[in-house]
Amino acid sequence: MAPPLDSSSTYSFSDTETFARASRAKTGAGYVYSRWANPTVDAFEGAVADLEGTEGAEAFASGMGAISSIFLALCSSGDRIVATRQLYGNSYSLLQGRLPRYGINATFCDHDDHTAIAAALDGARLLYCETIGNPKVQVADLPHLAGLAHDAGIPLVVDNTFASPALCRPVEHGASIVVHSATKFIGGHHDLLGGVVCASVQLLEPVAAVARDLGPTLAPFNAWLGLRGIATLPLRVQRSSATALEVARALQRWEGIDAVYYPGLESSPSYPLIGALLDGRGGGTLAFEVRGGRERAGAFQEALGLIRPAASLGGTHSLIVHSAGVTHTQLGPEELASAGISEGLCRLSVGLEDPGDLIDDLAGALAATG
Ligand SMILES: Cc1ncc(COP(=O)(O)O)c(C=O)c1O
Repeated sequence: MAPPLDSSSTYSFSDTETFARASRAKTGAGYVYSRWANPTVDAFEGAVADLEGTEGAEAFASGMGAISSIFLALCSSGDRIVATRQLYGNSYSLLQGRLPRYGINATFCDHDDHTAIAAALDGARLLYCETIGNPKVQVADLPHLAGLAHDAGIPLVVDNTFASPALCRPVEHGASIVVHSATKFIGGHHDLLGGVVCASVQLLEPVAAVARDLGPTLAPFNAWLGLRGIATLPLRVQRSSATALEVARALQRWEGIDAVYYPGLESSPSYPLIGALLDGRGGGTLAFEVRGGRERAGAFQEALGLIRPAASLGGTHSLIVHSAGVTHTQLGPEELASAGISEGLCRLSVGLEDPGDLIDDLAGALAATG
């Protein structure tokens, strides 16, 4: 029942004509070389494409490998990308600092400012957003953003990492390309790095060509771990969403917590969107502001026992990070303020532990540092 792990980097042919034909085709005419295609990686790509409802998928060594390959595949020097401000720190630094060195520039807009986005799209090459923005977990209105991108005749590219295909399939809401850090919910066990791009065969081909030329392809063992993770994806996402809601409700009641951000809370501005976009759930990630700024946020995290300070999300264990100090260090003070990231902001990724144990751990750490 377990899929075979094919770790071969290369494949031999007894007849050189077939070898030459397969090499010219790169994929689809027999396996030649694992940077081009590998059976275990193909199985992983097929599974993610099925989950996202796309014609195909291309796997990468990490989420950033996948995201940067999309931009390099679709854009040339002189092109401009419109991106929402609610982005993972390295996605922001790629767009803001690195791609401009190759003549590809970005305009950043708040994901709710549809007027500014519509204006910025004039002459742009693509629109880029996250389904649930990092780190304050605001939900993007994907159908509206897709409408704006279609009006401008360009693709909407969606990073669906925080939602996972168990909650949201962006192509059903008008997106053309979906990307994941498979390191998170898809892998789900804190033991692999991976990324995946899902799209039509036509849009995928230039992305796959970048992967072949630059080489950020997924290792077969990580594809195999990814398939193992996918088997329990819906169960894990449902459980961590239900627990995250309980934790968010508890945090809301406590002195010492200034704000709680979670789309599943009725008080959240994102709440009206979750029925249509996230299957009525809020996801497994929430954020909150600890009163007392960076110093108290640090002491609070060190006082936790069950929840571990670590930089990832979407896995079996609950992890906490200080956003300004860990995931968004690429942003200066003004950029942090414009992204709404305060000094006391902590992001909590809820795992599969007992909800009561998690709430006790948070309450204990808050009391110990009060
Ligand atoms: C929303 C989002 N996209 C992309 C990435 C990058 O993924 P990876 O660490 O697999 O390169 C991350 C990493 O935290 C992320 O949170």
